[in-house]
Amino acid sequence: LQVKLCINRNMSDVPVCVRDYEKKAEETLPKAVFDYYFSGADEQQTLADNVAAFSRWRLYPRVLRDVSNVDLSVSVLGQQLSMPVCVAATAMQRMAHPDGETATVRACRSLGTGMMLSSWATSTIEEVAEAAPHAARWMQLYIYKDRNLTLSLVRRAEKAGYKAIFLTVDTPYLGKRRNDVRNRFKLPAHLRMANFETPDLAFSSKEGYGEDSGLAVYVAQAIDPTLKWEDIAWLKKMTTLPVVLKGVLRAEDAKEALKYGVDGILVSNHGARQLDGVPATIDVLPEIVEAVGGRVEVFLDGGVRRGTDVLKALALGAKAVFVGRPVLWGLACDGEKGVRDVLQLLKEELHLAVALAGCCSLKEVNGSIVRSSGVFSRI
Ligand SMILES: Cc1cc2nc3c(=O)[nH]c(=O)nc-3n(C[C@H](O)[C@H](O)[C@H](O)COP(=O)(O)O)c2cc1C
Ligand SMILES: *[C@@H]1O[C@H](CO)[C@@H](O)[C@H](O)[C@H]1NC(C)=O
Ligand SMILES: *[C@@H]1O[C@H](CO)[C@@H](O)[C@H](O)[C@H]1NC(C)=O
Repeated sequence: LQVKLCINRNMSDVPVCVRDYEKKAEETLPKAVFDYYFSGADEQQTLADNVAAFSRWRLYPRVLRDVSNVDLSVSVLGQQLSMPVCVAATAMQRMAHPDGETATVRACRSLGTGMMLSSWATSTIEEVAEAAPHAARWMQLYIYKDRNLTLSLVRRAEKAGYKAIFLTVDTPYLGKRRNDVRNRFKLPAHLRMANFETPDLAFSSKEGYGEDSGLAVYVAQAIDPTLKWEDIAWLKKMTTLPVVLKGVLRAEDAKEALKYGVDGILVSNHGARQLDGVPATIDVLPEIVEAVGGRVEVFLDGGVRRGTDVLKALALGAKAVFVGRPVLWGLACDGEKGVRDVLQLLKEELHLAVALAGCCSLKEVNGSIVRSSGVFSRI
């Protein structure tokens, strides 16, 4: 019995789900870093709901359909990927591991999936490109008050082989993440937002940021809160890359986006870090998919933690999903290998879920396999 208990304890250290990586990351990371990565805005109602909402949808599997060969490959913005699970932009990844974004992009390359690089990365656009020239890479863009600076980010991304711009439209100001205020969050002294020259723009100023989250002060100083629909026209005119709007939560905004010629919609509430009290992304996905009517690809992020979550999002019309925090937990646990392990885990979970739902490929995954469990009334 003694021996058996011992073995069980050892075995239980092997992470078998994303939550296990989260727990391990919490033990590993400095508190202020874990808090920054983990937090949602205000009361974190939406943070909890992003995850919980997936459980309000139920899967209705088909049986006896020979699922011995399951194909998870998918085309995203014209590029073929091995699976519909991609990496969302998360800022400042070198706080999790010294290799930061370069580890993440290599992991994506080895899994055959894509990475969205944050404007606020602690590695440069070019470094990440060099780390994995053949990886599917997309650039997340914040529009700065200084439009020349903004355009220089776009030009650098084009030159370095990024294949789309994900324009974040939900951050005219930074949401209030209480622990970041309490911790007076700023970057550790040895790190900077690597894409910018001056200390102010690189978020590495020696000046204090007062009694606030340093990042909230940074955003108020640098990011343009006047952003409006005409700016989408401006960006579309300035680049030949596809432009995807990141942070859409309503059907009418998705329709408006189509008028401006956007090339994709990412249904996102910024990992619940901006406006608290907004719906879980999976709950608004159906109305946005309906509004878009297949004219552009629709994606989802927020709270995706399991293969069954991915399956539900695909069944409700997402072309692919993005994961934010799970990647940071993998990175914190074991750098490139940790990210690879997390992505592989999600891939295996999705493979199993698709097969158990009675589907052999993602083309067979449609609305007939998922239904609202009725606990929540549709908006
Ligand atoms: C620590 C952290 C940093 C983030 N940084 C950015 C960013 O720089 N730009 C951006 O558009 N979204 C950013 N996001 C939002 C993610 O792109 C994504 O929408 C969100 O993390 C998805 O939710 P999930 O973490 O539950 O998977 C960040 C999210 C987290 C958790
Ligand atoms: C932006 O660049 C243009 C052309 O290079 C220049 O004329 C203009 O002064 C710049 N604007 C700012 C705000 O730096
Ligand atoms: C869903 O796909 C199956 C095949 O996998 C097909 O038989 C069915 O008609 C489709 N249902 C809808 C609602 O599209």
